[in-house]
Amino acid sequence: MRVGVIGTGYVGLVTGACLAAVGHRVRCMDNDALKIERLRRGVIPIHEPGLEDIVQRTSANGSLEFTADLAEVARGSEIIFITVGTPSRADGSPDLTAVRAVARGIGSHLDGSYRVIVNKSTVPVGSGNWVRMLVEEGARQLEGATVVGAPGVSTAHPVEPAFDVVSNPEFLREGSAVWDTFNPDRIVIGAECEQAVAVMRELYAHWIAPEPLGRALPLVVTDLASAEMIKYAANAFLATKISFVNEMANICERVGADVQQVAEAIGLDKRIGRAFLNAGAGWGGSCFPKDVSALVSTGREYGYECALLKATLSVNEAQKQSVVEKLQRELRILKGRTVAIWGLAFKPHTDDIRCAPALEVAEQLVALGCRVVAHDPVVPSERAREQLPEMQVAADPLAAAAQADALVVMTEWPLYSEIDLSVLRRRLRQPILIDGRNCLDAAAARAAGLTYIGVGRP
Ligand code: UDX
Repeated sequence: MRVGVIGTGYVGLVTGACLAAVGHRVRCMDNDALKIERLRRGVIPIHEPGLEDIVQRTSANGSLEFTADLAEVARGSEIIFITVGTPSRADGSPDLTAVRAVARGIGSHLDGSYRVIVNKSTVPVGSGNWVRMLVEEGARQLEGATVVGAPGVSTAHPVEPAFDVVSNPEFLREGSAVWDTFNPDRIVIGAECEQAVAVMRELYAHWIAPEPLGRALPLVVTDLASAEMIKYAANAFLATKISFVNEMANICERVGADVQQVAEAIGLDKRIGRAFLNAGAGWGGSCFPKDVSALVSTGREYGYECALLKATLSVNEAQKQSVVEKLQRELRILKGRTVAIWGLAFKPHTDDIRCAPALEVAEQLVALGCRVVAHDPVVPSERAREQLPEMQVAADPLAAAAQADALVVMTEWPLYSEIDLSVLRRRLRQPILIDGRNCLDAAAARAAGLTYIGVGRP
């Protein structure tokens, strides 16, 4: 099938490359001409295991192409994915400027052949109808209407557009996005008509085993609003699950219990499950904070206060703060202290620092008068310093720890658990180790003479 993908961020690039890998003809479009030019040369703007290989392979065999021309994608694709960013505004609601521009732009280039326009960006519930309206607006070019994102198009459109809007949320995790795209737990399609569902079934034929072998994968077909809600509900549930275990960790710390043993045991209950029960220094990333806040904001828009989700958010804020509190307890005065931070990415196997708990902790420490020296194996030091110019970035973990009054582990990169803890002890000025991800061996750390403080562990 001929597929267009508008927006080459994490979701767009991974989706486009994986669809090309199963035999579709995919064109990925982005406004950023420099990014497109680099992608054409096989340069991937993000750290995502396996992605570079797929992009280079599918580009070489001609199934994946990159362009900065929206018209080319809108005219030449049977299915057009909208995968542009929807960042959070200050009030928690998502900024839909890019979605609006793209939907109108697509509309202005439709030529009467049937198209399926797929919302893959996480958009508020009800956006399917809104996108339909924008595409129609773009197509009709009502007199006096301004078409954002479609410069130069101002004449009345002669053809009645034939299209359907579908919601097809993604559930991929950064760091394993390619694997997740090929091995999803389910594919969700929110649509209002059979024709659109049939097109989407054909698109995902590789994933859905043909009858009579039976389906290997649940294909969930819903109405538009339910599909949009599924994405939010999934992320809100996962974020709440982590905030729940973090709250259990805080009680464990006070009563002298071990949250890891608690998580193992409650996780054996099939109704609960062990995944996403790792207590730590709070969750971050480009999805959970944005999506939970957006759901709270949608609730408010409809006169409902999401009490549980607000608690999920506030437990998370307190969890990040607890790292600073632990340092204050150990060091008393923070002014003039040097604190080393291991890990800046919001989780391992990604270079993403959006809403990274590590950066928030670093920012607080700088504000409290500390000198912060960080290390991350993947996040480029210039990008880290752009966020927080006062922070120093070291080239290796032991260099970051040199003469530090305390070390805080904020991302559980595997290389940190391989470091010789006696060598670490000798590098530190004071032997304080705050393991914000419970990823180091507590007994070995203590044996090496370190004061080990984990999360929810006695
Ligand atoms: C998440 C969802 O998992 C994915 O389905 C959705 O499409 C996008 O949002 P992602 O943001 O890539 O994916 O990261 P995820 O692996 O879910 O982790 C999110 C945050 O939770 C990280 O900061 C991580 O460190 C934290 N986390 C995760 C915990 O603190 N404890 C856990 O047990 C799991």
